[in-house]
Amino acid sequence: MYDLIVVGSGGAGLCASIEARKRGLSVAVICEHKPTDASTCMAQGGLNAVVYDDEDDSPKLHAEDTLKGGFGLANSSMVKRMCYGAKEDALWLDSIGMPFSRENGRIARRQFGAASKKRALYAQDYTGLKLLHTLFDNALKEGVEFLDSSLMLDLVVEDSTCKGVVVLDNRVGKVKAYASKSVVLATGGYAGVYGSFTSSAKNSTGDGVAIAFKNGAMLSDMEFVQFHPTALKSSSILVSEGARGAGGVLVDSSGKRFVDELASRDEVSRAVFKKIKEGKQVYLDIRHLGGEFIDKNLPQEKKLMKIYEDIDPLEDLIPIKPVAHYSIGGVLVDENLQTTITGLFAVGECANTKVHGANRLGGNSLLEIVHFGRAVVSSVSEYVKDVSLDVDLSSFEKKEQCRIDSLLGSSSESFFTLREELSKKLFEEAGIYRNGEALKSLLGEIDEIAQRFEKLKIADKNLVHNTWLTSHLKFSNSLLVAKALALSALKREESRGAHFREDFQKPSSEALHSIVSFKDGEILVGFKR
Ligand code: FUM
Repeated sequence: MYDLIVVGSGGAGLCASIEARKRGLSVAVICEHKPTDASTCMAQGGLNAVVYDDEDDSPKLHAEDTLKGGFGLANSSMVKRMCYGAKEDALWLDSIGMPFSRENGRIARRQFGAASKKRALYAQDYTGLKLLHTLFDNALKEGVEFLDSSLMLDLVVEDSTCKGVVVLDNRVGKVKAYASKSVVLATGGYAGVYGSFTSSAKNSTGDGVAIAFKNGAMLSDMEFVQFHPTALKSSSILVSEGARGAGGVLVDSSGKRFVDELASRDEVSRAVFKKIKEGKQVYLDIRHLGGEFIDKNLPQEKKLMKIYEDIDPLEDLIPIKPVAHYSIGGVLVDENLQTTITGLFAVGECANTKVHGANRLGGNSLLEIVHFGRAVVSSVSEYVKDVSLDVDLSSFEKKEQCRIDSLLGSSSESFFTLREELSKKLFEEAGIYRNGEALKSLLGEIDEIAQRFEKLKIADKNLVHNTWLTSHLKFSNSLLVAKALALSALKREESRGAHFREDFQKPSSEALHSIVSFKDGEILVGFKR
C-alpha cells in the first residue's frame, strides 16, 4: 500500500512524485509505457515565469495577460497563485538542472502570442523534452518507484472515496490492483482524440478523464480544445510559437500576410483555417531569421522540417495548418486540486484548474504542470494524515479481468477504422468552427460508432504487450470523452476563446463553466459560475 499513487509520468506526475518523496510519502508512478513518454515534450517553446525583479515585467502583468487570454473564464485566484508562484518554480527547475537557454548570464526569454512581454523561459525549442528528462533524473534520485508498461483500467472507488488503481500490467499480461491512500491523476489531455489532426501524442486519449468520470467525478469546460495555428502540413508536427515570437510571419499562397501573428491562438488559428478553406495554402516564413539564429534557437524545428516535409527553413516557405493542440477542459478540481471524488486529485492537462479559462496562453501549460504538480502534494499530505485504508482489491481485479476476457474473440472488423472515423468527424464538426447542426450530427455519429465498437473483439489473445487490446481499451475512453466534448460544445450557445460557434458568434453576457456529470448512464451538461 502506498501513501500516493501518481498516474502518469509526464511533467505534472513527475513534479508530484518528486515533491511527495521530499515530504517522506511512499509513492509509485504508474506509466502506460516508459517514464517520460508524455505530451509534455510537445510543448517546445517555453514556460512562462517572471524571474527577474529588476525588469519591466511582473507576476501581476503575467496574471493580467492570462486572465485576459481566458476571456472571462479563468479563475482569478488560481491564476494569481500560478503566476505569483512561477518565479519559485522556475528557480527550482534551474536549481535541479533544467538546461534553460541563457542570455548575458540570465535565463533567456522569448515572446509568445498574446503576452505583453517576453516571458517564456526556454531550452532552445526542446523545452518540454528537457523538462521531462530533468524531472525524471530527479525522480530517480529521490527514489520514486515507477510501475511502467501499466495501463490504468479503473480506479478503486468505494463510498465515493478513491483507494487505489487497477491496471493491466503489460509486462506480464495481468490485471493488478494497487491500494493507495490517495491518487493523483496526471494522465494528460484528450486532444489525441483528434487523431491525425493533433500535435498531441496520439495516446492522449483522455483515459484519466474518462475513468474518473465513469467513477462519478465531474468534468468541466470539455468543449474548450485549443487549436495551434502552426503545425507542419503533412505530419501535424508542431512548429513552436517561438518561431512567430522571433519574427516569423504567416503568408498565403499569394505571399500576403493576413493576420497579426502574435494575436491569441484562437484568432490566428481561425484566420489560417479560413484561408485553407478558401483553397489557399498557408506558409510560415522564417527565412529572414537567418541560419545562426535558427540553429541556436530552433534546431529541433529545423530537423523536423527536413525529415517530415523535406523543407529547409532558410530557403523555403514552410507549409502549415492548424491542429488540435491542447485540451483546456478536464476533470473538475477544487482549490486543493481534489476532484469530486474524495482522495482523488488531478493535475496537468487532465485537470481543469481553470487557469486557462477559454483560451490558454502559450507557455502557461508547462508552468501549470510544474506549479500545480508540486502544489498538489500539500493537499495530499494533509489528506493522507487521517486515512487508514481497508480495502479488498480482489473484486476490482476480477471485474476488470472479466471485462478483458469478454473482449477476446474473433471479429471481422477492428476498431482502428472507427478511430479514424471518430477523429475526422471531431475535426470537421467540433473543430475550429462549430455550429449546432454539425454538433448534433456529430453526437449521432459518435453513438453510431459506439454501437459498432460494442460488437468488436480482439483476435490476438496474448495479453503480454497486446497493443491491439490496449488501443481498444483506450478507444472506449475516447468515445466517452468525445461525447462529453461534443455535448458541451452543443450546449454552449456562444463564442468564447477557443470555442467558436458560427450560429452564436458573440460571447454571452455571463462567463459560465460547463459542468458535466454522469447520471443513470446519461451524460448531463449544466453551467455555473
Ligand atoms: O508553440 C509552442 O511552443 C507551444 C507551447 C505551448 O503550447 O505552451
